[in-house]
Amino acid sequence: MSKNICFIDGLEGILKYREIDINQLVELPYDAVSYLLILGELPVDQELAEYSSRLHGEREINREVMDIIRMCKLNIDSMEALRTIVSFISQFDPDINDSSPEGNLRKAIRLIAKIPTIVAVYYRMANGKEPLPPDRSLSHGANFLYMIRGSKPSQLEAEVMEKDFILSAEHELNASTFSSRVTASTLSDLYSAVVSGLCTLKGPLHGGARSEVMNMIEEIACPENAEEFILEKIAKKEKIMGFGHRVYKTYDPRGMIFKQLSRQLAEAKGDMHWYEIAEAIENTVIRELVEKKGKPIYPNVDFYSGVIYKYMDIPPQLATSIFAIGRVSGWIAHCFDQYEKKKIIRPRAFMLDEC
Ligand code: SDX
Repeated sequence: MSKNICFIDGLEGILKYREIDINQLVELPYDAVSYLLILGELPVDQELAEYSSRLHGEREINREVMDIIRMCKLNIDSMEALRTIVSFISQFDPDINDSSPEGNLRKAIRLIAKIPTIVAVYYRMANGKEPLPPDRSLSHGANFLYMIRGSKPSQLEAEVMEKDFILSAEHELNASTFSSRVTASTLSDLYSAVVSGLCTLKGPLHGGARSEVMNMIEEIACPENAEEFILEKIAKKEKIMGFGHRVYKTYDPRGMIFKQLSRQLAEAKGDMHWYEIAEAIENTVIRELVEKKGKPIYPNVDFYSGVIYKYMDIPPQLATSIFAIGRVSGWIAHCFDQYEKKKIIRPRAFMLDEC
């Protein structure tokens, strides 16, 4: 596999997976982008049909897994349930000890297919509802929304969910991907590497920021309150969730696409409320931190994605798990790359000073 998994130009705001710009990728089905990341090339029609069919065929989870999900506490963040269950399901994978590329691909397909089902089953059980079996006729995004809601989403919602998974799928050596790669570098199995990624994604400085954004928007309640709320946070030197990035020193290109999508959803629903609060937050942060203080603190991938979830009635408890549903393809692409190297990652402690 010669093409780099990911390219980021943090000054120009450019992002590519396998040399294809994110603005093009976002028009494809999630399955095609997942295939691209993991296998290195975009699939032709026949390859995509086969890959999707394999994913659809692996969506179900067995009775024992359902029972363990039922034992999770009902009021926890779904990431806590997800990391536990992904660890638990590895014992049912017949390829767990097969580290050949073919064995690893079969495990990858099972992980990508089952993670949305685990999240949806936990969510429905936590809300006193019967879990629903996956619907094989639906895309990755539409099926996930169907499994949490019990009704098929509109075409726009299904498209937005697919795009959300694509925008979340990969971002070079972010903290969770680094964790996954370190685990894979010891030649540990793919489930262990994905659990490492899940544990790291969960923190509020990384994927956990998404649910914090949703809580912030809820707390602000109306656009007129946004300015005072943000000014107070800045005065107290608190971080504003969904803003800033270690690599981007300009607008995150994913943030820009998420902003357009959230506007599209707001207009389609005839309700600009959440969008206007978000825009009022963004305008205040840009005026106070970018224009007055010269700090490159723009919306990142977690800001307008939180707004999208508000419009799709997705609760904050699911926000980071949804990030994980998309990101698992990126983690796996990096693990495969790392397995080929057969070299352990072992930095020296002094390097931490540069982090
Ligand atoms: C993701 O790495 C990736 O690629 C991650 C990710 C991915 O796809 O995998 O893009 C996903 O994790 C997005 C980030 C989600 N996190 C948040 O939204 C939490 C809020 N943001 C931050 O805490 C922060 O911006 C980070 C963690 C994202 C980046 O941190 P850095 O690069 O270590 O920056 P820093 O904390 O050292 O801050 C540098 C300066 C400071 O000011 P000074 O002390 O220099 O005066 O910028 C300020 C900070 O106070 N700053 C912020 C801010 N982020 C940075 N000020 C207010 N609000 C913020 N959000």
